[in-house]
Amino acid sequence: MCGIVGYIGKQQAGPVLLDGLKKLEYRGYDSAGIAVYDEFAKKTEIVKAKGRLSALVEKTDGGKSLKGTCGIGHTRWATHGEPSELNAHPHFSDDGKVVAVHNGIIENYAELKQKLLNKGYEFYSQTDTEIATKLICYYYEKYGNDPVTAMERFILRTRGSYAIAVMFYDFPREIYVARKDSPMIIGVSDGEAFLASDVPAILKYTRNVYYIGDREIARLTDGGVTFYNVDREVIQKELVEIKWDAEAAEKGGYEHFMMKEICEQPKVVKDTINCAVKDGKVDFSEIGVTDEQLKAFKQVYIIGCGSAYHVGMVALYVMEKLARVPTRVELASEFRYRSPLIDENTLVVVISQSGETADSLAALREAKKLGATTLAIVNVVGSSIARDADFVFYTKAGPEISVATTKAYSTQLIACYLLAIKMARVNGSIDETRENELIAELTTIPDKISELLKDEREIQQFANVVAAKSNVFFVGRGEDYAVCMEGSLKLKEISYIHSEAYAAGELKHGTISLIEEGTLVIGVLTQDELYEKTISNMVETKSRGALIMGVTVKGRENVESTADITVYVPKTDPLFTASLAVVPLQLLAYYVSAYKGYDVDKPRNLAKSVTVE
Ligand code: G6P
Repeated sequence: MCGIVGYIGKQQAGPVLLDGLKKLEYRGYDSAGIAVYDEFAKKTEIVKAKGRLSALVEKTDGGKSLKGTCGIGHTRWATHGEPSELNAHPHFSDDGKVVAVHNGIIENYAELKQKLLNKGYEFYSQTDTEIATKLICYYYEKYGNDPVTAMERFILRTRGSYAIAVMFYDFPREIYVARKDSPMIIGVSDGEAFLASDVPAILKYTRNVYYIGDREIARLTDGGVTFYNVDREVIQKELVEIKWDAEAAEKGGYEHFMMKEICEQPKVVKDTINCAVKDGKVDFSEIGVTDEQLKAFKQVYIIGCGSAYHVGMVALYVMEKLARVPTRVELASEFRYRSPLIDENTLVVVISQSGETADSLAALREAKKLGATTLAIVNVVGSSIARDADFVFYTKAGPEISVATTKAYSTQLIACYLLAIKMARVNGSIDETRENELIAELTTIPDKISELLKDEREIQQFANVVAAKSNVFFVGRGEDYAVCMEGSLKLKEISYIHSEAYAAGELKHGTISLIEEGTLVIGVLTQDELYEKTISNMVETKSRGALIMGVTVKGRENVESTADITVYVPKTDPLFTASLAVVPLQLLAYYVSAYKGYDVDKPRNLAKSVTVE
């Protein structure tokens, strides 16, 4: 969603801000703006543009037309008010002395606006950010022109989520920041300070960052940061080194991040296995959860949004088959509002790449409130979900830039398999030999993904057939159904083709009426005991004119008597086939989108990290 950057240092701020915003483009946005304080002219210049960042780059000559070495910038993804220059950030007070950019949603904006209208403030945009800016201005003037007090009052008076960066005209070499439930990090290097809503924006400049906590304030100066709690007391923070290297957030010769990230899967899957497997055994000592704790859980809830939820769908099958613990998977947005029956005997697993998804974070908090133990499977170190959870399993996907997730999904699957194996072992539903067997098989997955990636030509060629379709149905049973859900989401989000995933057994209860001559049906059939059943369902669609693509395991060549095109995945334990079957579906979605000439990495209306409800 919206992106924030900020800079104070020796360099001209404009180009640094635009460079940072460029790195945040993937998050999704529809307008952008920057504000830079010019020390010589003693004024703050603000430039905004609707649409792509390139429009702002052009308007400001790459940021060079704004003089000054201190500034803030923003990419906006419209929530309150349409995408327009007027609604774009930065927003400013009537006298121009307070300038701010903000991510999140101020829930009590209407009440605050009324208060400010009563005090004589006027409003020009439809945004809650203009209200936030003027509220800060109001408190600034009311409380002796003290920025920290103004920020404190802002925190105390607002409800909702925010990451906000503010420049006060009277404090020209300072930027003030506050956050609640919306990501923001602060980076420092020699004589410079940076702020950003996501790591890639500042990786080029520094790896040393501070995480600002909920309802805390930060004051950035040249190369220094001071933190305050909501009582305006100075607090100490630990400087953390980001291990991701800057190159990981670059395209590295690939046309799109999505393809680069698909190709990185063997490596990141291997890294994720290696971080929780020691001497051939699942080792959760770094995560901190003990065998006794795991053994005590009577049920498991797995929660996520989008692809993370689809990982949970796979995990549901694997967990119940292996660990024999009752498991449910639920969308975070549903879970958080339906008073679920959970207690201290429940393990709630929250899966999230960004660790910042608003619904997942709220679901995690709800689970904690109800007494459950929470385990987060998260990719971004120090993110809100990681910080709030009782235990964290960090996936090792590295920075994922493409909005459509691929490598993070694959690493989340691995984390779930390892959790299922561990729980199965501690509660005795598998013995040591079976654990050894499963781990040995799991370690072959990276090479098997590499093998699949070498064999993508047929999928690429088939993409032009798929591109001409307006409906695609994915069908499968068990884990295959879960993979279908992910394959269908991948296709629809980046190629804009309507697609649905169906449990193959449900076809006859509705969907089959939509099958007509030429409708594409993609069947995933990797589960031995369900193979014949799904084949029968595919035959039923074929006899009604469907074009069939099959994704199955090597050795199942008889699928070709039904399927018009088949992709074979290497053999593995049926529990782990999702890790392989998903790859051709990722590739298909990618090639269809690229064939149609779409912006693969930044699909319309979507955001990488959904930090509002
Ligand atoms: C967005 C992304 C998806 C992602 C979902 C959950 O919709 O586009 O790729 O699966 O959010 O995000 P999270 O960061 O919580 O995994």
